[in-house]
Amino acid sequence: MSALEKAAYRSFQAVFNVGARLLPWRRPIVVSGVGSAARIPELLRNERVARVLVVSGPTVAARLLPPILQKLDEAGIAYSLFDRVEANPSTDTVEAIRALYEAERCEGFLAVGGGSPIDACKAAAARVARPHASLAQMAGLLKVLRELPPFIAVPTTAGTGSETTIAAVVTDRATHHKYALMDLNLVPKYAVLDPALTAGLPPKITAATGMDALTHAVEAYLCWTYNTQESLRLAEEAVCAVFRFLERAYRDGTDLEARGEMLEASFKAGFAFTRAGVGNVHAIAHTLGGLYDTPHGLANAVLLPIVLEDYGKAAWPKLARLAALTGVAEQGSERERAAAFIREIRAMNLRMGIPEGFDCIREEDIPQMVSWALREANPVYPVPVVYDRARCERVIRRAMLAQAEEPAER
Ligand SMILES: [Fe+2]
Repeated sequence: MSALEKAAYRSFQAVFNVGARLLPWRRPIVVSGVGSAARIPELLRNERVARVLVVSGPTVAARLLPPILQKLDEAGIAYSLFDRVEANPSTDTVEAIRALYEAERCEGFLAVGGGSPIDACKAAAARVARPHASLAQMAGLLKVLRELPPFIAVPTTAGTGSETTIAAVVTDRATHHKYALMDLNLVPKYAVLDPALTAGLPPKITAATGMDALTHAVEAYLCWTYNTQESLRLAEEAVCAVFRFLERAYRDGTDLEARGEMLEASFKAGFAFTRAGVGNVHAIAHTLGGLYDTPHGLANAVLLPIVLEDYGKAAWPKLARLAALTGVAEQGSERERAAAFIREIRAMNLRMGIPEGFDCIREEDIPQMVSWALREANPVYPVPVVYDRARCERVIRRAMLAQAEEPAER
């Protein structure tokens, strides 16, 4: 990549930053606290929804939906159910959700689950809002451009932040390409943050999704331009909360205080990255999800320390501040504190059984991974270091080998 290309990306980000400040940013209406899911019928009534399409995956449908559906019955609100959303949801699944919504003449969406059902449901709602535009045509920034039907997001994991973000990530199974629709209209109308719904989440999923939230907060925080005072503050609060509460939730799933704090952290991190963007960790992680079905949070957890090390001194000042805020390292040079912060992320991963690298990456896939990752990251993501092909490939190879190293001066 030439210096001219990099300069063009930075110019794009600077101009986009000015434009972004003029956009009509929306945020969901939040209903939170233990038992807050009981208020879902009231929210649907507010929106005059007589029939809602409930969207989830099979596990959530079996474990968590019955009491919610019972409340809908009691309130006299009709519903149809799509309970087959898979991890890394496909464009076919999105089309099936849309078809059911149309066939059953629904008037709103209720997405219950982790990032996959909420994202699939958001993408389906975008198709309903713009029936003549395909998902591929709405990929990228600000392509939906129409208001969605009434939409309630109920996260049952604490990580994706999909209940507050502008993004819906889907995978084309034919090409294995995983891509995002990003539009202000994709911010759900309501977010219901009920810690009780996350209490039974297995430790492994708690860990991976929690590290996704951490990655959102850190990548947003490292953004060189789009941040506001609020997004910086929320990213800092989210990082501190993840450091404090994720392992508590991992060790004891029924710790409702930790679960509630993690839901709040995930929401704050989601808000931060909606405003400030993510970065190269996500761009590479999406290629692993598309090619190998690697869970999104797990991909981020493994890649986060590797990419942060690779950024070198471009990331030290902000990582040093996060090290101080989290209490990981209050003394020492910026470089030393940044290194301590990255070390602590590795240590958290280790304590929660997250591996240091992947054995699924095939040599022959690397050129495609690099192309997809660069296409996703550039020019939109305001990353501390713009990757060219060689550097992106080097990071992917480190994730294969997962060799830890102290951050080098660059
Ligand atoms: Fe993410």
